[in-house]
Amino acid sequence: MILAPSILACDLGHLADQIAAVARGGAGVVHVDVMDGRFVPNITLGPAVVEACRRATGLPIDVHLMIENAERHLDAFVDAGAASISVHVEALPHLQRAVDHLRRRGVRPGVALNPSTPLSLLEEILPEVDFVLVMSVNPGFSFQKLLPGSLDKVRRLRRTLDERGLPARIQMDGGVTLENVKAVVEAGVEIVVAGAAAFAGGDPERAARALIEAAR
Ligand code: DX5
Ligand code: ZN
Repeated sequence: MILAPSILACDLGHLADQIAAVARGGAGVVHVDVMDGRFVPNITLGPAVVEACRRATGLPIDVHLMIENAERHLDAFVDAGAASISVHVEALPHLQRAVDHLRRRGVRPGVALNPSTPLSLLEEILPEVDFVLVMSVNPGFSFQKLLPGSLDKVRRLRRTLDERGLPARIQMDGGVTLENVKAVVEAGVEIVVAGAAAFAGGDPERAARALIEAAR
């Protein structure tokens, strides 16, 4: 299991320290939530923050784009140092073009699905992506509860990937806690995003370690 703490829930005034703490706790990736106030109700972080993360750590930076017209902004996030970028299938009519562009630019492409978006929309794109981000909350905010249908969705996706022999990894984002992280991983999630569970307790190093331990 790869733990991907979401800095949306961290103390942004101490970004570098917060990232260093989760890295010491065993985090494998830093997850950056980009929101535009249009695709989702909230407005959050942009390329400048991705660049600050990249300077702060050797860990790969994973950018989750919750924005309209994502195609227009891909290069800015690649140039800022993203190692992987996920785009929402609901926000992009020309998804394949965006995925292909990311790969050509040397970034791992991922596609993200809102809770109500069916897996069937992935049928054509699945062989081209490095990972699928299954949203387990409606995107927009940290500190929400994991929606109960999410684990079954992951199990079905896991089955499809196995049946088709595809290498894409499954990432889950939203409402992961110490209590449910084991079930999340058992369902087939390899990359676990955690906002509140990593940062809200005030000791991110310990929280990261505890999440990884609880997933075993
Ligand atoms: C939600 C974001 C998540 C969020 C996770 O829209 O994409 O990455 O920050 O936070 P928690 O783990 O608190 O749900
Ligand atoms: Zn996210």
